[in-house]
Amino acid sequence: MNDIIIKNISALILPKKSEQPLKGSEMDELEIIEDAMIVIKDGHVVYRGEETKGYEATEEIDADGMVVSPALVDPHTHVVHGGSREHEMALKRQGVDYLTILEQGGGILNTVEQTRKATHQQLLDKASKNIIRMIQHGVLTIESKSGYGLDRENELKQLEVSREISQKFPITMRHTFLGPHAIPKGMDKDVFLDEMIELLDEAQAYADFADIFCETGVFTIEQSRKYMKAANALGMRVKIHADEIDPLGGLELAIEQNAISADHLVAASTNGKNLLPDSDTVAVLLPGTTFYLGKDQFADARGMIENGGAVSLATDYNPGSCVTDNLQMIMAIASLKLKMTPNEIWNAVTVNAAHAIDVDKGTLEAGDQADIVLWDAPNHEYIPYHYGVNHAHTVIAKGQVVYR
Ligand code: NIG
Ligand code: FE
Repeated sequence: MNDIIIKNISALILPKKSEQPLKGSEMDELEIIEDAMIVIKDGHVVYRGEETKGYEATEEIDADGMVVSPALVDPHTHVVHGGSREHEMALKRQGVDYLTILEQGGGILNTVEQTRKATHQQLLDKASKNIIRMIQHGVLTIESKSGYGLDRENELKQLEVSREISQKFPITMRHTFLGPHAIPKGMDKDVFLDEMIELLDEAQAYADFADIFCETGVFTIEQSRKYMKAANALGMRVKIHADEIDPLGGLELAIEQNAISADHLVAASTNGKNLLPDSDTVAVLLPGTTFYLGKDQFADARGMIENGGAVSLATDYNPGSCVTDNLQMIMAIASLKLKMTPNEIWNAVTVNAAHAIDVDKGTLEAGDQADIVLWDAPNHEYIPYHYGVNHAHTVIAKGQVVYR
């Protein structure tokens, strides 16, 4: 394995490593070292800081004044699925909303049909294209959910594909069982939920977390509580798609069930937001979804941060509500629509995103695995500013250059 020295870094972005996610005003703190260098040995960082002499390596990379950061973390994706739903775009423009499409058997249920039809290999090939694009965009840690199988065979098929991806690519993954993502056509909701609860035990062998879609017309607060309690009883940390469209109290439930994250939260209540700072739950905001659904009201990131909460950002990449695997695009939307500061955004896609999926990633301390991105940008504020294009110049995964 090559040892590498990266020299001539104009600004080295260093999110703070801590046991807890960064909360409130801590989110606006970001250490930046100018004229820096990094030394990598055996896939790990051995030095990062001001340029200094005394280190040798087999490979030297001249960053030529570029910005360097830890690789990004995307803590919420639905990357493994069959097919696509471009026909829904026109329907939505005609005023048919997301939940109505689902109610009519489209939306998630359309993707369920296509995922059930797809073989393991087809799902793997399709997801691999997205994973390659994510890596090229500077993302090396990815959470991946099931939820388009809605039965034992197909949920486990999705999770198996997800696990195979983590073997195939030099990335770090966390896998989430999202069996209760929608209700199969013609099935009773409670009967289906009980089936998914029964499946938790088996899913645990494949998945790190259990997730549920708590929303009007999907699962209620009571049903979500039942599922989360069952997962907690098995020792599985829980996540929840909460308060995306209607204010059902999903954030309060997440905190009550000690969820590792509560995701979406566009319609989260003031009460829920007030409970966030004293909880261990990270708010994973998905502004690309609000944007893609054509809505005007975005999650109250400012309120959550100013209250003292921990906020993270993700793509939510999926074939219906957010069709992008470019986390840099989400950084731009977070600036424009969530009014987050550049420092908050960088912490939200590195260290806080890592906390939302319980991985030791998103920082560059001595001893950390060397997941590093060289950005073709004059400073760190430039990446959310110049939107819609890829600024990643070189991506180093576990100490090896994987994209340049
Ligand atoms: O996080 N809201 C529920 N699940 C996904 C969307 C899934 C889909 O539309 O296929 C989400 O937005
Ligand atoms: Fe999602």
